[in-house]
Amino acid sequence: MNFSYSLPVNIQFGRGKAAIVGEEVARLGNKVLLVTGRHSVKQTGLLDRCLQALNAAGVTVELFDCVEANPLTTTIDSGAERLRATGCNVVLGIGGGSVMDAAKGIAFMGRHRGKITDYLHLPQVEGEAVALVLMTTTAGTGSEGNCVAVFTNPFTHDKLVFFTPLLFATTAIVDPELMVTLPPAMVAATGFDALSHNIEALVGNFVQPMSEIMARQAIALLARHLPRVFQDATDIESWEQVCWANTLGGMAIGLSACGLPHAMEHPLSGLHNITHGVGLAALYPALMDFSWRSNVSAFATVAQALDLTGATAAMGEIDRARHSIRLVREMIASLNLAFTLSDLGVKGEEIDWMTRRCCETMQVSIQQNPRLASADDIRALYLACL
Ligand SMILES: [Fe+2]
Repeated sequence: MNFSYSLPVNIQFGRGKAAIVGEEVARLGNKVLLVTGRHSVKQTGLLDRCLQALNAAGVTVELFDCVEANPLTTTIDSGAERLRATGCNVVLGIGGGSVMDAAKGIAFMGRHRGKITDYLHLPQVEGEAVALVLMTTTAGTGSEGNCVAVFTNPFTHDKLVFFTPLLFATTAIVDPELMVTLPPAMVAATGFDALSHNIEALVGNFVQPMSEIMARQAIALLARHLPRVFQDATDIESWEQVCWANTLGGMAIGLSACGLPHAMEHPLSGLHNITHGVGLAALYPALMDFSWRSNVSAFATVAQALDLTGATAAMGEIDRARHSIRLVREMIASLNLAFTLSDLGVKGEEIDWMTRRCCETMQVSIQQNPRLASADDIRALYLACL
């Protein structure tokens, strides 16, 4: 056994934890760039609550409230410009994965010259970042628990993964009470993303002892509790479990990376601005079918973790591994996510472009997948999902 483990985020988890945002930010600085989206935190009243808490803690706030879904590299650059111009010494991201990733990029660029695209292809980056606090309002990306961010270049449509320890938040606040206003379609898409992270970390070539424990536990929690919060978003006990599973998934992919489903999904949402979890669901069963024979024991573990009826107990390992695909398919159906790529607006003539971008920009995830996919395999898999 040979692995390293470093996860330097102070995670503040629990109902009502949103209330500590003022003191957590004040611990790090006195002027904060508050990064968020255009609508939801305003509609739910969360933004006002946070502004009051920051005010009470003596923190001055600059608002940067224009982060879009699938955040653009140009948004990171304009946020960083605001950060430098206003002299903020803390960045606070309040929102879902897109907002948290944007806040990570802005905090990074607050201490680096040029544009974010100057850094995304580098194998390693030096320097430091502005102190960062993240508060998640969805349970999907687990971005609060890792040093990964994903940005879309609007000029090339490439959706690029940026990975550096400089993206770790100092503090991450996870408050399950913030989830009870999420609409069902959002619960489904973000929840399936969380499930995907955990499955891909568990079955992938880069799995290690800590990510294996995290992912197995998280898959079991999501199997039981994700359908419950999809049916009833006020089920706070189940939200606690889903939120924890989400943060675990973020940590697990931070340690072990995502696999082929994420590699193939990024060109989809880069090109069509498809919701990430919806794109994943359209690809997932076919990609599990492609991969499971290359790591039978891990896929059998996935099936065991997903199994709520005990049906897998009597199966041999190979049948159990194969059964994992059926269980994921059932989860997709129960979340109303059973779409084809055509349903999502993807056209056959776009498959060559998506295949090329997948191979050129997502090599780490292609290598992580238990079965190595060639360009021809990827093209055939896109076609099979059309
Ligand atoms: Fe994801």
